Amino acid sequence: MEQAIDWKNLGFEYMDTGSHVRAEFKDGQWTRPQLVKGNQLNLHIASTCLHYGQACFEGVKVFQRVDGTVACFRAPTHADRFASSAARLCMTAPPSELFIEAVATLVRANRSYIPPYGTGASFYVRPLLIGSSPIIGVHESHEYIFIVLGLPVGPYYKNGLVPVRGLVQEQYDRAAPNGVGHVKAAGNYAAGMLGDKEARARNFDISLYLDSATHTFVDEFTTSNFIGITRDRRFVTPDSKSVLPSVTNNCLQQIAADMGFTIERRPVRWDEIGNFSEIGACGTAAVITPLYSLTRGSETLTFGDPKTPGPVLSSLYAEIQAIQYGTKPDRWGWIHPLST
Ligand code: COI
Repeated sequence: MEQAIDWKNLGFEYMDTGSHVRAEFKDGQWTRPQLVKGNQLNLHIASTCLHYGQACFEGVKVFQRVDGTVACFRAPTHADRFASSAARLCMTAPPSELFIEAVATLVRANRSYIPPYGTGASFYVRPLLIGSSPIIGVHESHEYIFIVLGLPVGPYYKNGLVPVRGLVQEQYDRAAPNGVGHVKAAGNYAAGMLGDKEARARNFDISLYLDSATHTFVDEFTTSNFIGITRDRRFVTPDSKSVLPSVTNNCLQQIAADMGFTIERRPVRWDEIGNFSEIGACGTAAVITPLYSLTRGSETLTFGDPKTPGPVLSSLYAEIQAIQYGTKPDRWGWIHPLST
């Protein structure tokens, strides 16, 4: 089957690899993660995930590296973020070791779906946690299902490091100030779908949300964090209670600091956006997506060339990919080798 995969032209689309990994939390204990053939799940129709949105997920990348080995990027950090998402949604998360063992089991079983080095593609792992007890009052589940599926992917926004056009969402908010915007709740993404659909209908590629209380500060995109670069070498990213702590953003901050940039994590006012020389979206799936333009109402701000990514985002992208694919040393211990 793998011969049929056009590795160099993969998008970010579902592909069935024939198996996934599953563990269950029942009677106060987690079962060991098991490889399960197929892609169907038998679920009680009154499960809390279906009615009350008790569901959270992660996105983790696995790479075949220049030396032929396979490694997972920042697995323990993703396991920790998964646990904090679960805690906020009153769910029981699998321990970090179980999370990592499940990813390793999935990767071993899906070896033929891991894109070869040099194709620019990666294997995207999607851990998912759902409440599965049948409960009709609004209470947390006693039972949970932890699923890990994976598939080969190319860039999230088509063409990878090519600038896109963004729209600021004025009509809809993504997350309330003390809500769940800072965790990877499945419902956060449902909340962004209508705005995204309407933006796509107007030929925009990506939607940006402002703080829901005042619409004065930048929060994040539907899919990813916001980063801005200034001409005087500052890397600026919003500090907001409603923003997901992006693992990729954290990596880029460390790489940028190493390149001599000043890192500013602070509230970012909409009216300072025009001062940035480059702006981008960053996340595990997107890595870095530069924006050529950002439209808010009748105002459109532009950044650099519509076809060419700016020099700073290009070099940050090259650097994180070099660490992921092993052509540069893993200076911060981000690489988690997996046996295949
Ligand atoms: C990721 O970047 O891994 C995400 O989970 C974002 C998702 C919308 C694809």
